[in-house]
Amino acid sequence: MKAKDTLILAIESSCDETAAAVVRNGREVLSNIIYSQIDIHTMYGGVVPEIASRKHIEKIDPVVASALSEAGVTKEDLSAVAVTAGPGLVGSLLVGVAYAKAYAYAAGLPIIGVHHIEGHIAANYIESKELEPPFLCLVVSGGHTELVVVEDYGKFRLIGTTHDDAAGEAFDKVARAIGLGYPGGPKVDKCAKAGGRPDAVVFPRGHVDGNEFDFSFSGLKSAVLNYLNSCAMKQGGPVKDLREKREGDANFNPDALIDPDTGVTVADVAASFQEAVVDVLVTHTVAAAKSLGISKVAMAGGVAANGALRDRMKRDCESEGISLYYPSPLLCTDNAAMIGCAGYYDFLAGKSHGLDLNAVPGLGLGQSI
Ligand code: KG4
Ligand code: ZN
Repeated sequence: MKAKDTLILAIESSCDETAAAVVRNGREVLSNIIYSQIDIHTMYGGVVPEIASRKHIEKIDPVVASALSEAGVTKEDLSAVAVTAGPGLVGSLLVGVAYAKAYAYAAGLPIIGVHHIEGHIAANYIESKELEPPFLCLVVSGGHTELVVVEDYGKFRLIGTTHDDAAGEAFDKVARAIGLGYPGGPKVDKCAKAGGRPDAVVFPRGHVDGNEFDFSFSGLKSAVLNYLNSCAMKQGGPVKDLREKREGDANFNPDALIDPDTGVTVADVAASFQEAVVDVLVTHTVAAAKSLGISKVAMAGGVAANGALRDRMKRDCESEGISLYYPSPLLCTDNAAMIGCAGYYDFLAGKSHGLDLNAVPGLGLGQSI
């Protein structure tokens, strides 16, 4: 390590991933360890907060040890400890925050509480070394759907948000309804790719009166559920929830018919729903970039891993002369490298916290910790 290197140990435990990373000078990831609890929560059809907290407690120490050893560093080499302080599940956040405070105190290091969404945005800096603010970022995760102008490092202006469900939440709920189970986003993505026709069913595109850059996904979700119900009725009465028939079915078949009359399959519904979400996300983002005169657009959060969203955003940005950035899928979903990157810019700005740092589950973007 060069003497002037800034090495950050980063910890992330806001939901169901226990993660630790070592990041050098903000953008160079020396290690990025993720222990995913997905298999456990899949049994319950979604994240069970109490189980998530307990698993974090069990895994955080070995995950941090692996991050340090894979990076080949010891606590003496570190400059600071960065940890996600919010938003997220309070019990999950508290494990990371308590661990990071204890570690920093014992090692005599500064501690930096990092905003989880600022971390997602910062994930773009890791692989795109040339990316600098200002740019427009579409943040699409399980709990957030936001259009954010990144004016500078640590300086954000929210220009659009969802009025109801987040995009990831809509993916998760629809996935459940068509029998794909948890976690919904990647399963819908995969199922849609398995021959699904995006134009098989035309689902509504949600718009919000008053702010052209805001989002609404609850109407779309209801439209999918209504469509499924109407197909079930056509087949002789209210068929029980598809989920009960298909969840956990090893022989799940994307070609299974939803509507035998029209030939619409499970994969068609997945692809058509996804098309409606992608259409709204891309249209709003490109319109916002054009209206603000911004020529750089980035995407962040779990839904930014979606293949159809990446393809369509690329196509539309290209045709408008906008440069597009998005992290590789592993850096889109929850990880600690992104927290190390955001924490580095906080560190450069002289931001640090005391041992009274607490978890803030409802932390809004730009709100100070
Ligand atoms: O950013 P993230 O890992 O956690 C939060 O901060 O919420 O995002 C998780 C969300 C979930 O709703 C998940 O279904 C969705 O991102 N997601 C996807 C894909 N991968 C993850 N949605 C659509 N397509 C994907 N490939
Ligand atoms: Zn996240």
